[in-house]
Amino acid sequence: MIKKIYKANILYTKERGRFEILENGCVAVDADGRVTDVATDLTSIDCGDAEVVDFGDRLLVPAMNDLHVHAAQYRNQGIAMDLELLPWLQNYTFPEEMKYADTGYAGRMYRRFVRDLWRVGTMRACAFATIHTESTRVLMRLFREAGMGALVGKVGMNRNCSEKLAEPVERMVQGYESLIAEFNDPHGLVRPIVTPRFIPSCTPGMLRACGELAAKYHLPVQSHLSENRDEVALVRELEPESTCYGDAYDRYGLFGQTPTVMAHCVFTESEEMALMKKRGVMVAHCPTSNLNVTTGIAPVRQFLDEGLRVGFGSDISGGHNLSIFKMMVYAIQMSKLHYQRNHARSFLTLSEVFWMATKSAGSFFGRVGSFEPGYEFDALVIDDCGLNFDDYSLPERLERFIYLGDDRHIERRFCRGREIPEP
Ligand code: GUN
Ligand code: FE
Repeated sequence: MIKKIYKANILYTKERGRFEILENGCVAVDADGRVTDVATDLTSIDCGDAEVVDFGDRLLVPAMNDLHVHAAQYRNQGIAMDLELLPWLQNYTFPEEMKYADTGYAGRMYRRFVRDLWRVGTMRACAFATIHTESTRVLMRLFREAGMGALVGKVGMNRNCSEKLAEPVERMVQGYESLIAEFNDPHGLVRPIVTPRFIPSCTPGMLRACGELAAKYHLPVQSHLSENRDEVALVRELEPESTCYGDAYDRYGLFGQTPTVMAHCVFTESEEMALMKKRGVMVAHCPTSNLNVTTGIAPVRQFLDEGLRVGFGSDISGGHNLSIFKMMVYAIQMSKLHYQRNHARSFLTLSEVFWMATKSAGSFFGRVGSFEPGYEFDALVIDDCGLNFDDYSLPERLERFIYLGDDRHIERRFCRGREIPEP
């Protein structure tokens, strides 16, 4: 039964490379928070006694999905940008994550993090916490209280770091089981995701235990893949039997055996790409992070042409910007740099990056990221009147909001059909 009908200027992407544009259109949402209809006018929808909510001249778009973000690095956002990945982790990131042994500190930081995700219009996230079970629980509860969707990872790591951030495998497994016991609804908005930090941080025993956890509890998996040259070289040393970095994860059941998202893939080449495609492994493209700590440009055009699944990650604090709208801008700009160097491939377009951020990334959370019937209604109402001083078309208005706008233009936010107030 339809519960609400929202009227506005609706823009979304059913397929890569093409906007669906409904000027003064409407979208009907049922009591479960799912879209039942999307139409150019009310007369074509069987309204019954549904409430009609009219957003006037505002834009209505799918909410953002962040496929890779470190909640526990929020304090470090926008600082410590003078090193590449491996020394950056040791000098800045690990010392910050150690502080999360204190759940009071964690609560203070995580509260701000969840509020700011809400601000920038991200209603679903794949988030890394730290090794600390109780702090991770704090983050999961904050997401649940907010009503936002999140796959939250207690981080698995036990080598190449200080003892304070190395957790024995047994304890890691017990920690996961205690989180799974609390967040055990497979349809819940907040769930655990198995999170080995990356191969250099995990012994074979840790990786094996992570793969077993994912299989036993049907949990998704997230990690980092082929982000930085020194990291890729280190993995080759640590896992000499593996044919590529992705193959190393695969050997432990961490590469698509359950739904898997891998951040970065900057140095992913043909063999790794083929394995990702075969296994349905999703790429979280993190353009600002790649600029800050990686020094490389991911071959996103090639991923798309090869049929890989790709979405965006803000990757705070390797990345410095939390907004997925801004990831779209950076991705287009970086693809143009890549294009100029390589000549062969065309750069990304606005409708492509919008699709990546919404329908493509949303697929990791279920039927999320589009306004097609059956999709969960995750949406943002954008009041962009302050950006418009002439007669702009709807696609132009959306493009201007993406390039020039910010959270002040996002007026209302919905996740799974529910309006989400400020957490
Ligand atoms: N690789 C392993 N850990 C991290 C992290 O915290 N950030 C980034 N960008 N890459 C990583
Ligand atoms: Fe990361």
